[in-house]
Formats: sequence, structure tokens, C-alpha cells
Amino acid sequence: MARKHRGKRPYFDVDARTLAAKKAGYAARSVFKLEEIDRRVELFKQGDHVLDLGAAPGSWSAYAAKQIGQTGKLLAIDLEPLTQALPAWAHVVEGDIYELDETLQQFAPYDAVVSDMAPNTTGDKIIDQLRSFHLFSRALELSSQLVKPGGHFVGKIFMSGEFPEARERVRKLYGKVRTIRPAAVRAMSYEIFLVGLGRREP
Ligand SMILES: C[S@@+](CC[C@H](N)C(=O)[O-])C[C@H]1O[C@@H](n2cnc3c(N)ncnc32)[C@H](O)[C@@H]1O
Repeated sequence: MARKHRGKRPYFDVDARTLAAKKAGYAARSVFKLEEIDRRVELFKQGDHVLDLGAAPGSWSAYAAKQIGQTGKLLAIDLEPLTQALPAWAHVVEGDIYELDETLQQFAPYDAVVSDMAPNTTGDKIIDQLRSFHLFSRALELSSQLVKPGGHFVGKIFMSGEFPEARERVRKLYGKVRTIRPAAVRAMSYEIFLVGLGRREP
């Protein structure tokens, strides 16, 4: 019955994914984006140290914590509190990634820095794209200081004229660059993920 109206209801799949995420114990459907990226590029392994930027409500952190296991360390940062329950090896700090410095270093060097950060959207496409580019750039800059050689980076960015510049910056720091738009990204969204694999020696 519902399938009959699918073309007119862009949130049909969104709702299905939200329900699936809740059923699997995750706070947000975003978990499927990280899950797909991880499946495609093998981001995490047991014992890894991971920094998750823009972590609330917490589904990426929960997923990453599961992949790295209890011998790993995860640090989750967000302006907002996380609602997701996390295991003991995951540590949460509420704060602004433009202000935090030493706190971010507590489990460095990291095997992976991941960022799903997004600005509060204003409705003005140009402003939103620029803010997203700035958040992405800050996450990449932090990864350049905190990821160990051979480690990885994932950063969300809104597609815009700045995208080629963002990709080039990733390429300079990482041996391999992938651009991934996971199936779980909403059809009308212009978000995309740049993935840097194998941090070059500084
Ligand atoms: C799409 S949500 C992240 C969802 C998360 N990955 C998950 O799976 O639950 C984007 C987050 O980025 C955070 N954020 C935006 N700007 C930030 C900043 N300057 N410092 C820290 N977090 C920020 C927002 O508060 C928001 O919670």
C-alpha cells in the first residue's frame, strides 16, 4: 500500500531507516552512512583510537565503539549532549571544536578522525555551504595534527563550489581519497563524504 505512494513521499525510505536504526539500538539513522563507508573502505579495527567530531546524538560513536572494541578508545565531541548509551571505552566531551584543543589530544595519535558535523541550516544555500566547508576544513586540520601515519579521515561536506578545493586538501594529506555518498543520505540532501585513507608522513 505504502509503496504505491513512494514517488510522492520522499521520506518513505527515511522513515524506514529511522525505524531500522532504532530497532538496532542506534539513536539516529546516520549510523547507516558510517556503516556503509566502513564497509566500503574498512575504516576501523579492534583496538583503534577514534575521534568523532559532531557526535550527537551518538549513533556514529556507538557504531565506531562497537568496531574498535574494549581495547580501543573513542572520544566523542559535540556542542550538544549525546543521548546514545555508549560503552566504557567511549568518552564524551561537550564543546566546540573551534575552542577545544588539549582535550582532543587525550587519546592521540588517532587511527581515525571522523566528522559528521553540520551547521544549523539557515535556508540560505550559500551560507549553509560555506559553514559546512568551514566545519569540514576544521575537522581536516585537526586530523592533520592528530591522525597517525597510515590512519584515516572521514568528513561530511555540503556539495558546493568549494568541493574541489576540499578534495585537494584531503589528497595532500592522505595517500588515497574517496568521495562517498552513502545510500542513507536523503535524496534531496547535498551532503557528501570525503574519505582520506592512509595519512601521509607529516
Ligand atoms: C548530523 S549531526 C551528527 C550525527 C551523529 N553523527 C550521529 O550519528 O548521531 C551534526 C552534529 O554536528 C554538531 N556540530 C556542529 N558544529 C559543531 C561544532 N562547532 N563543534 C562541535 N559539534 C558541532 C551539531 O551539534 C550536531 O549534533
